[in-house]
Amino acid sequence: MSQEAVNGVPCRGKVLTLDTMNPNVKRVEYAVRGPIVQRAVQIEKELREGAKKPFTEVIKANIGDAHAMGQKPVTFLRQVLALCSYPELLEDNKFPEDAKKRARRILGACGGQSIGAYSASQGIECVRQDVARYIEKRDGGIPSNPDNIYLSTGASDAIVTMLKLLVCGEGRGRTGVMISIPQYPLYSAALADLGAVQINYYLDEDKCWSLDIKELRRAVTEARQHCNPRVLCIINPGNPTGQVQSRQCIEDVIRFAKEEHLFLMADEVYQDNVYAEGCAFHSFKKVLFEMGPEYSSTVEMASFHSTSKCYMGDIQILNHTVIIQAYLNKKDPISLCSILIRKSKRTLQPSHMYSTQNQLLFPERTAVLAALAEKARLTEQVFNTVPGITCNPVQGAMYTFPRITLPQKAIDKAKEAGQVPDMFYCMRLLEEEGICLVPGSGFGQREGTFHFRMTILPPTEKLKIVLQKIRDFHQRFTQEFS
Ligand SMILES: Cc1ncc(COP(=O)(O)O)c(C=O)c1O
Repeated sequence: MSQEAVNGVPCRGKVLTLDTMNPNVKRVEYAVRGPIVQRAVQIEKELREGAKKPFTEVIKANIGDAHAMGQKPVTFLRQVLALCSYPELLEDNKFPEDAKKRARRILGACGGQSIGAYSASQGIECVRQDVARYIEKRDGGIPSNPDNIYLSTGASDAIVTMLKLLVCGEGRGRTGVMISIPQYPLYSAALADLGAVQINYYLDEDKCWSLDIKELRRAVTEARQHCNPRVLCIINPGNPTGQVQSRQCIEDVIRFAKEEHLFLMADEVYQDNVYAEGCAFHSFKKVLFEMGPEYSSTVEMASFHSTSKCYMGDIQILNHTVIIQAYLNKKDPISLCSILIRKSKRTLQPSHMYSTQNQLLFPERTAVLAALAEKARLTEQVFNTVPGITCNPVQGAMYTFPRITLPQKAIDKAKEAGQVPDMFYCMRLLEEEGICLVPGSGFGQREGTFHFRMTILPPTEKLKIVLQKIRDFHQRFTQEFS
């Protein structure tokens, strides 16, 4: 700290500097917003300023941001949101009566009839009741208690809050949290921030990124030597790997969690995004209850859903705080959802398919899902025609995580440049073709393998261009370094 005096008054250094900041935060990395994205933004600026490049726009296929990629918002949701945020519009006859009814109900449950008011910590009660009803319906009638629903500002917020509750202890007693590799970097970032021990279990790329209980067992056994494994995180459908877990696999995971006395965190934000034939989404909660009280009354679990994915891809504008009560009822797993769920899910049930203005709502959802399914197939198909790229089927979620074979000379060149090889590859792709992807190293991958993650969200015609550009680039890159 500098102690130089100015006019006789000691001048002390800044309180917050890179050297003095929280070391846990310093360890946090978030690949989907990392250096490659920063460079993409810079290139966009250069293009705006008239720089000549081999392309005229940067296509950002790095992040699962549906609306940014041109996905059409569901009209009814936008109407309700507009009415809630500006209630004067309730007098406007451009808005359908059912949207007004929905908005009045929400406003009636808010303090001062305003969505700007603080809500109860757990979220607005009538919304939690609706979420519980939705979950019951989704799970074939298995009861869901609104008291176990916690609304949050997004799945990220809820996951971090839950992890905060679970992480404790020191030294070998420090909480270990099992996460899949490849993983969604929210998890590694949150664990670094909390100073928890990250326990990696690897998904099996040769078996379509499936989860093998033997691998879970290996990971937990090794981790017991240096920490206290207490939590198992599962992402289903998977990000970045796009796999959908079979029911059998979910049962096996639940049995494993019971045997190893682990708290289960089921990240199910892509539950509506299932495309592959023969695949279906099974909620962990449903499977847990169907396994009977031996499991449902002992295994502790929280599951997470979001409104920022699939056909919603929406923001949450209702204002509320979230504090997870420290008490968790073992008998009834909790669900943490963000708030638009209630509006959308109920809207999209058959009886709600038409607004009073006879505006068909259902096709908006169907169109989005059909387009995603087509893009999932197209992506797999095109990548698998490129020598040096292998791509598993995109069974669900919004991403593909193809494996790329990189020539040794390219690996050496990357080392010289101080970059990991797949970062070097993605940077070159960005500079030469204007395509922004995320290097596989940002998600974790088996030593010696290289990947990238790409979203399948760009509109079909644009996606075809993206795939073509990657194909051309990969061939050129391979030739250059062979
Ligand atoms: C697996 C997974 N979990 C959680 C989230 C975060 O969801 P939200 O946008 O609701 O914070 C994402 C977002 O991409 C995700 O892919």
